[in-house]
Amino acid sequence: MKIIHAKSYEDLSCEAANIISAQITQKSNSVFGFATGSTPIGTYEQLVQRYKKGELDFSGITAVNLDEYVGLSEDHEQSYRYFMNTRLYDHINIDKSHTFVPIGTAQDIDNECLRYEELINSLGGIDLQLLGIGHNGHIGFNEPNTCFSTTTHCVKLKDTTIKANSRFFASEAQVPTHAITMGIKTIMQAKKILLIASGAEKADIMQKTLYGPVMPSVPASILQMHPDLTVVAFDCI
Ligand code: F6R
Repeated sequence: MKIIHAKSYEDLSCEAANIISAQITQKSNSVFGFATGSTPIGTYEQLVQRYKKGELDFSGITAVNLDEYVGLSEDHEQSYRYFMNTRLYDHINIDKSHTFVPIGTAQDIDNECLRYEELINSLGGIDLQLLGIGHNGHIGFNEPNTCFSTTTHCVKLKDTTIKANSRFFASEAQVPTHAITMGIKTIMQAKKILLIASGAEKADIMQKTLYGPVMPSVPASILQMHPDLTVVAFDCI
């Protein structure tokens, strides 16, 4: 495990963007696993700035996202597809047909989960997976006590997660109750993992994740077992 102590949130975003940029430079047709949430926003802004300066070419890459709410269409402002389009894809030269997010409005959600997992396999797996971490140690929407061997699946969101995410919706009742997420096995199969975490309120979970026992009650603790994990943290380790 490699740990980078960032000096600020901006520094964290630059360090994470450096690692993503290096991956594209090394392999122009890399497959990225991307995350949503507040932590990667600065990283995506950095990538957009670098693209606009002519420093990065995204035309060869493919991107698969970690998760999506069940029931939200692609143009819903809180869907993760909408997030990725507006924060990143609309501003860089990625081929949109090479960007994938689970389809939250699929008729058959179980089938969508299988399709998504097969899609990732058919791409040859993920070269670099970017991850944020929830206060309870979730990665993707893999909540505490998710089995480590899960692949892409549908989860019922915990009340705490619904509450935490209700800040983005008009009311708590509008937060979807289910989501599709890559499983812990899917995430662990990525060749490289980049975990970013910012803020003192993540200090406790980061301590448990990186130095505590590896156990399903702290889903992110499995990352200790990954052979190529880089952590970029600001004010929480
Ligand atoms: C996002 C995701 C989540 C977030 C986590 C942290 O696609 O899968 O696991 O990474 O909830 O969110 P923030 O960055 O908002 O603290």
